[in-house]
Amino acid sequence: MHSIAILGAGMMGNVHARAYRAMGEISSLWIIDPVESRAKAISEKYGANVASFEEVLENGVIDIVDICTPTFTHGELAVRALEAGKHVFCEKPVALKIEEARAMDGAAKKSGRKFMVGHVVRFFPQYIRVRELAVAGDIGEIVMARLYRGGSFPSHGIDNWFADIDKSGGVFVDLSIHDFDFLRKLLGPVKTVEARSVALSSERKKDSFDHGMAILRFESGALAHIEGSWAEPTGMPVNFGTFYEFVGTKGMITNSYERETTLRLQTSIDGKPKYSQENTAYYDPYAEELKSFILSIDEDREVPVNGQEAVESLRVALAANLSAKLHRPVELSEVF
Ligand SMILES: NC(=O)c1ccc[n+]([C@@H]2O[C@H](COP(=O)([O-])OP(=O)(O)OC[C@H]3O[C@@H](n4cnc5c(N)ncnc54)[C@H](O)[C@@H]3O)[C@@H](O)[C@H]2O)c1
Repeated sequence: MHSIAILGAGMMGNVHARAYRAMGEISSLWIIDPVESRAKAISEKYGANVASFEEVLENGVIDIVDICTPTFTHGELAVRALEAGKHVFCEKPVALKIEEARAMDGAAKKSGRKFMVGHVVRFFPQYIRVRELAVAGDIGEIVMARLYRGGSFPSHGIDNWFADIDKSGGVFVDLSIHDFDFLRKLLGPVKTVEARSVALSSERKKDSFDHGMAILRFESGALAHIEGSWAEPTGMPVNFGTFYEFVGTKGMITNSYERETTLRLQTSIDGKPKYSQENTAYYDPYAEELKSFILSIDEDREVPVNGQEAVESLRVALAANLSAKLHRPVELSEVF
């Protein structure tokens, strides 16, 4: 049984509070937010105690700190919580700068506490399934991939922080990082990134952009095309969606939010064409992710997404930002 303090009572704070309550194995839940009304709303809905961050650090009963605050605040909060002896779960992206992310990872290693970053796409059923099929060799060696993730601008963010590239990192760092992380896990290290970005919606701030495309070349030789968007109009029938297509030497797997059937597998093994489709089971991926973190603590084993992996995914996203800015391909070795 754990006592968990959630920092940030915004969109993700609500998602995490709901997931912890659904688990039923929590001895107490705490909520911290400078905006009193937000903390109060979570407190009433999920039976959480309202506290300050200092109170959390001093409270010996609270053993887990879960960071759901705007990205530019992650570094300091995580390091202070780890130094106070707490296990830390931190929403993605881990931070906005490599040095800061490395400091968080370093603090975790020094403290001996668990530190996990919320790359939740690894826990979504249709992504788990594509990985299973790929690992089983159903489509042979993956040589190319196309992924899309997007919707309208995330204007729910407090003080419109997503619109400021110095606070959110922009659409590659905040949104496409989900796909960068998943691809890294599936296809291995990235070698080069070439990206372009445009500014379409009126809600972003000067110097920021809200639609981007990146082409990743992996050390394996595979190529991936990733598109991320915050620029779809509001009021669309589906507010947010994802798409993927993985093409291997023996077939392809596709999945799109625009189709009712969630996953299609087309293969040609030994000259025999085969087609199948399936609906992957649905469950709450955020709850699965947080359960896996708690299990890592209980069984004292490595977390599914550690600080080092989060640093590597951040490097790819920052390489995309740099490439879009310089209008040239960027070697991953340039971002360190
Ligand atoms: N995994 C996902 O699918 C996913 C989805 C959306 C957002 N995120 C990430 O989650 C994080 C939070 O995003 P959000 O959409 O919930 O933002 P949000 O703006 O809805 O909520 C952030 C909350 O944090 C509070 N806050 C700010 N500073 C704080 C501090 N020092 N201590 C405690 N609370 C503080 C704010 O008052 C606000 O209530 C970001 O890093 C974002 O990138 C992840």
